[in-house]
Amino acid sequence: MHEQRPPLSIRLRNGLVARNRVWLAPLTNQQSHDDGVLSTAEQRWLERRAEGGFGVVETCAAHVSQDGQGFDGQLGVWGDHQLPRLRELAAAIAQAGALGLVQLYHGGVRSPSRLTGRRPWSASSFTEAGRPDFEVPRAAEVSDIEAAIDAFEQAARRTAAAGFHGVELHGAHGYLLGQFLSGTMNQRTDEWGGSFANRARLIRTIARRVRAATPAEFLVGARISLKTSATPAASTSTNRCSSPPGWPRTASTSSTSRCGTARRTPPSAPTSTPSRCSAPPCRSTSRSSSPATSGPAPRPRPSSSAAPTSSLSARLRS
Ligand SMILES: Cc1cc2nc3c(=O)[nH]c(=O)nc-3n(C[C@H](O)[C@H](O)[C@H](O)COP(=O)(O)O)c2cc1C
Repeated sequence: MHEQRPPLSIRLRNGLVARNRVWLAPLTNQQSHDDGVLSTAEQRWLERRAEGGFGVVETCAAHVSQDGQGFDGQLGVWGDHQLPRLRELAAAIAQAGALGLVQLYHGGVRSPSRLTGRRPWSASSFTEAGRPDFEVPRAAEVSDIEAAIDAFEQAARRTAAAGFHGVELHGAHGYLLGQFLSGTMNQRTDEWGGSFANRARLIRTIARRVRAATPAEFLVGARISLKTSATPAASTSTNRCSSPPGWPRTASTSSTSRCGTARRTPPSAPTSTPSRCSAPPCRSTSRSSSPATSGPAPRPRPSSSAAPTSSLSARLRS
């Protein structure tokens, strides 16, 4: 006998049911407090999306460690002091009948020292033309990579403890996970770089660790886009690896796909898009020549009162 579900609902792979297919995209709004705690304005805005009928409500990109903060006023999931407000948000979203997700983020080279207090790091050291504020990242030590994996895992545990339905790993738009996937930003010659399988090792390892650390009914997904625009720093320029066909080396390009999975093992290839995973290309990332533009560039912090969404988005886009 078939289960009766509302006609517009969608069953995700792990059995969770969203009441409809309207999914609030992650939108960085820079309204959290300096210590990464969710503000009332941001919380109410998200809750109102759930009350208004969204099937899935996803937070903005939330940094998993202090060295991964990318924006002023960015939501954090790196400390237990952030848990109380996250709990309130998760409860309110669930109470309103929506699924609540947190997008897990590390900025890598997009985590400026003025926010983190330390030099940014990435897969490799590289430069980018046309960015006056660009800070040449140091190439990651293996200990940095291990710390990032731990941070994603701990952030996912915290998200589950807060009562959310799942997480999405932010592998899109040229942030840390995308920097490792990139054939230009990642010039490593160890197991974390080189072949596509090696460049995908970071996001796959994180997916596996997050999956193992959270309950089976907790949704684990990833947003992935290809974005490459770096010039290797002189010291690493002899170690260039080859990109798969269709992956430009230096031209900036991207497309985005997203997919949730409840499997105990990560997908065999992070770029594959299973048929039940519909993912329209991200409009803001389909433009060329501007790395990591789909989230907003760091801006002065908005005032604590909630700005109307449309004007805030317009301001951040400009
Ligand atoms: C102001 C703003 C903030 C955004 N923040 C994020 C973010 O935190 N994480 C993310 O994956 N995408 C982010 N995006 C991209 C959006 O999630 C979305 O993909 C994009 O707006 C295109 O949406 P559309 O296809 O509905 O037009 C942001 C976009 C805008 C305009």
